[in-house]
This record gives sequence, C-alpha cells and structure tokens, in this order.
Amino acid sequence: LYNTLFSPLVLAASLETLGETARGATADHIRRVLRSSSQKEAPSAASYPQALRSAVDSNLTAFTLRAASALFTKQVAALDQNFLKRARSGGVGRIGLNHVALGSGGKKPDSATFHTWAQGATGTDNVAQLSKEPQAQSGALVLANALRIKGLWEKGFGESSEDLRTFLGVKYTRVPLMHRSGIYRHYEDVANMVQVLELGLRGGEASMLILLPFLVEKLERLEKLITLEQLQSWHSKLTDTSLALSLPRVTLRSSLNLQAALTTLGLVDVWTQGKADFSGLGGAKGQMHLGGVLHWASLEFSPDSGHKKEAKDGEEATVEEEEEEDVDVSPKMFYADHSFVVMVMDKASGALVLMGAMDVAEGRSLHDEL
Ligand SMILES: *[C@@H]1O[C@H](CO)[C@@H](O)[C@H](O)[C@H]1NC(C)=O
Repeated sequence: LYNTLFSPLVLAASLETLGETARGATADHIRRVLRSSSQKEAPSAASYPQALRSAVDSNLTAFTLRAASALFTKQVAALDQNFLKRARSGGVGRIGLNHVALGSGGKKPDSATFHTWAQGATGTDNVAQLSKEPQAQSGALVLANALRIKGLWEKGFGESSEDLRTFLGVKYTRVPLMHRSGIYRHYEDVANMVQVLELGLRGGEASMLILLPFLVEKLERLEKLITLEQLQSWHSKLTDTSLALSLPRVTLRSSLNLQAALTTLGLVDVWTQGKADFSGLGGAKGQMHLGGVLHWASLEFSPDSGHKKEAKDGEEATVEEEEEEDVDVSPKMFYADHSFVVMVMDKASGALVLMGAMDVAEGRSLHDEL
C-alpha cells in the first residue's frame, strides 16, 4: 500500500456531525477520538466546524478545494429526517453530510456505489481504488469523505523550469521535477536527518509543510518522529533561507478505510452490532453500527501560483512579475526526488487541512526495486 493522504479536519468535522446521533459509550468514544486528534489546547465541541469554515474560506485563494462527505446506510429503517436535513446543509462548516442509502445487494454493488460517489464528489474519474473495501452488514453506517486540493503557491514555479527526473520512491518512476530558487522558511534538523520546509500558499492564510529526509529512505522512521510537539518545535525553528527548490509535478492520490486507525485512537465498540448506540439517528439502541470510514483524497502539485486566473478581458494572461529575491549564490538544495511527508495547515485555526506521505510519485515505472 503506497501513498497515504487524508484530511484530519474534514474527517473530524464529519465524525463530529455523526457523533450527534450517538448515545452513551458510543458518544464518549467518538468524543475521545475527536479530542485525541485535536490540537493541544483541546478545542471546544464547536471548533471543528469553525476550523473547517476557516479552511473552506481559503478556497480559491490558498488552494482550490473540492470536498464532500456522505453517510451511507445499509438497510436501516426510520432515520431521523430532521438530523439528515441539518447534516446535509453543512451548518457552520459548509461541507454537508449527504445521506445515501445502499441497495440490498452485497459487497460488490456497494463498492461500486462508494466508488461512483467518490468520483462525483471529487469531480474526476481518476479516483484510487479502496485497498480495503468495507463489507456493510445490515444496519451499517458508512461515513465517507472525498476531497481534492490543488495548492496555489505564494511563489509560483516558472513554466520552463522543469525537467524529467527519476523519483526514488518505493518504486522508481519518471516524473517532471519543477525547480525554483528563492527565499523560503526552512530548517535543517541534523540530528534527525530531515529538512523542514514551509511553502506559503497564496493569501497567507494557509501553508504547506514538507518533511524531506536527507537520504533516500522509507518513511517509517520519519513518521515515528512526528508528534504535535515535534511539529511545533520544527515550526519555531524555521528561518528565511536561500533555497534551490525542486518538487515533483504530480498528483498524490490515496483512498483509505480508516477503521483500523480510528480503533487505535480509541474508537472501539462502535463497529459492533449490538454494542454501538446510534439511536439518535433513529431506531433502538444496538440497531445501527459503524461499518467503515472511507476517505479519498488527492493533492496536486502544480507550478501555479494561481495569479494567472485573475487576468481579465480575455487577454493573454501574464504571470504577475515576482518580486526579486536576494538569493545566495550557492543556495541550499531542497531536492524532493525521494519520499517525503506533506501537510497543509490552516493558519487561523492551526488545523491540519491535509496530511500525507508520498512514497511513490505517479509516473512511468523504471523498475520495481528498493
Ligand atoms: C471552491 O470553489 C469552487 C468554485 O467556486 C466550488 O465549486 C467549490 O465547491 C468550492 N469548495 C468548497 C469546499 O466550498
């Protein structure tokens, strides 16, 4: 299984909405997970939608974002229509939770329904197949999120500064690498052998953080290092640095069933018919359980700063002249031709809009070694 990408923020907001229908221990477990995945200064119950709204407000400035959430139900009767209506409207967060009833068929038609929904939600046919399809039993609820993001750089890459290189991931692939020299917020953690780079997104309300190991290696070591404290420590050490930056022009795509991960975070019992209590959604205690939490996400690395789009009058668009930057004659190299970790952060709320790992860059495969 290669490449993981998900939105802690969109997931948390949808889980919180579903949590409104939970009762008893089920409600406690959902609250516990939402707290454990939240920032240190535990936000109040209302802060996920607020953080989500703040991120959605950056749509079309910091990035282009398409996102949708759904609640699939398998053969459940008597759902609370008021809740479904409220959830669909999205409330503060403005990403609605749509209800989709699964048919009476088995796993195959359900999988097709999930896949088609994800395609519609992200507006693209190119949606990764789920590595682990859920088997929705009668009474199952399946929570799903799908999103597609393209970052718009504060400092865009020129069209011509690009060439074809080998990305040394878990598989070797040929991909276009974009190059740009400039001043960036950067920190070199020598002890942990990782470079930390913050890339500003347009408008200054959000930024992207890239963690690149010094050497070509699998990301397990780095993933173990990542804690909230570590991230804050890295962030506090970033300084303006002259960099020769190279990034692959690819789209990072993933599809996940987060059941195991959420169980590790403390979401237990909710998966078990008879133990779970979603009676706030209708029916009696024990009639419904969570049958899966599905997550599709893609992040496009493009050269764009997005400035072009603002050109008017149908004229040939011109990229805004960039400010001259005083780059050193021999800038530090940040050469992302091997596996790295990426995050997108909303500055106002500090929330993680996106988090993921690029193990393989989509491109023509060279060979299957490493
Ligand atoms: C972002 O803006 C586009 C274009 O207006 C819109 O289609 C899309 O739904 C917006 N995304 C969100 C999450 O609101």
